[in-house]
Amino acid sequence: MKHNFSVVPEVLLKDPDMAKLLVSGFGRKRKAALVDRRFHPKTSKEMSLLTFRITPLCNLRCVMCNQRGETGVLKGDYAIQEAKKLVPIERYKRLIDEVSPHKPLFYVWGGEPFIYPDIMEFGKYVVEKGNLLSVNTNGTFLKARAEQIVRDRWHALFVSLDGFEDINDTIRGSGSYKKVVEGFAEINKQKKLQGSNRPYMGIVTTISRLNYRYLDKLAEAARDFGIAWHIINLGTYTNSSIIEQHKRFMKEKLDSDIHCLDGFANGYNEGIDGELFAEVLKRVHSMKNGYPIITVPAIKPEKIDTYYTQLEQPVRDQCSIPWFQGNIDYNGDVYFCSDYPDYVLGNIMKEDSFYQIYNNERARRFRHVLKESKKGLMPGCVRCYQNMLFGKKIIGY
Ligand SMILES: C[S@@+](CC[C@H](N)C(=O)[O-])C[C@H]1O[C@@H](n2cnc3c(N)ncnc32)[C@H](O)[C@@H]1O
Ligand code: SF4
Repeated sequence: MKHNFSVVPEVLLKDPDMAKLLVSGFGRKRKAALVDRRFHPKTSKEMSLLTFRITPLCNLRCVMCNQRGETGVLKGDYAIQEAKKLVPIERYKRLIDEVSPHKPLFYVWGGEPFIYPDIMEFGKYVVEKGNLLSVNTNGTFLKARAEQIVRDRWHALFVSLDGFEDINDTIRGSGSYKKVVEGFAEINKQKKLQGSNRPYMGIVTTISRLNYRYLDKLAEAARDFGIAWHIINLGTYTNSSIIEQHKRFMKEKLDSDIHCLDGFANGYNEGIDGELFAEVLKRVHSMKNGYPIITVPAIKPEKIDTYYTQLEQPVRDQCSIPWFQGNIDYNGDVYFCSDYPDYVLGNIMKEDSFYQIYNNERARRFRHVLKESKKGLMPGCVRCYQNMLFGKKIIGY
């Protein structure tokens, strides 16, 4: 299986400006993991990745989604109430002004980011200030926005697609596959018309018991999409026992109440046949599609069963995320772990300086507790997607 970052040299030799930003961002991330986490256990000298869960709203209801799915924690009216708290574009611009001299990588997600009313202005401003912008989207609004995305030179789009048409639409809703394919086509058309190589686009496929058997068909179809990568995300899953352990741990060590994990205990990991899935992955990885197919985490085929059936067993450890990443929530809350927003460091609607929040007392306490934890993980971190991407590989996995 390919390494997580195998896409970097393959894609970016064509775009030196983007390559420079990426290499600098990932270089500083590496330094944070190797040096800062070790020698500055409470503070962070780097902030090389800034992520924005820019809205709680979404037009889809993907079944396994921890936010809007069957067990989602942002379901129904709750998201509509929360959306009244959106950070206005003026405040985001001041934040972008503050952090741009340090060139963090910007990663925008949601909910569905294109539902944030000023998303196009946000994207334009990030790029104008010389930063790298990538957006994770369900792709259903791409066609309508393609002309402007290409004109404003957004760098990267991570588009979710969970199978070939019938499987994808069972998971993500009727008609969603077609909209994504039309979106890819329109972006490619605009790139040609405008003579631009940006944005680079790729698929993200989240694995569940509904799609793992049929990945070949999507991988074959994707050859015609004009994409630059295909990421296969093994998924963030948990269970009630891990949730209880995490809640106790966070209360005792950080006096924090935890609500976010319930969304991941949806059972969509159950019934995945590890041996069969390993075979499917082997076939998919042997395809010569002209772009990398990357599994996150890239684990040994014989450990796939463990990944889905022994949710307590870490496959990556020594989390270093809080030494290089900050996430801004739709309401301005700042926290470290993209998918786990309960431990709030501060709020950009109440405080002027992001960097002060990023190294305040609550931030230092969190880093200290995480670093001192067994394997450098808290109980609920075992299948966290960020840790799957950036955590340290455990020998044997
Ligand atoms: C929450 S969505 C937000 C952005 C956008 N709405 C989208 O679907 O791409 C971000 C990513 O999380 C993935 N996701 C949903 N449920 C997941 C789960 N249980 N484990 C891991 N990733 C999940 C989605 O498929 C998507 O790729
Ligand atoms: S499109 Fe994204 S945020 Fe919306 S339900 Fe699906 S995974 Fe969740």
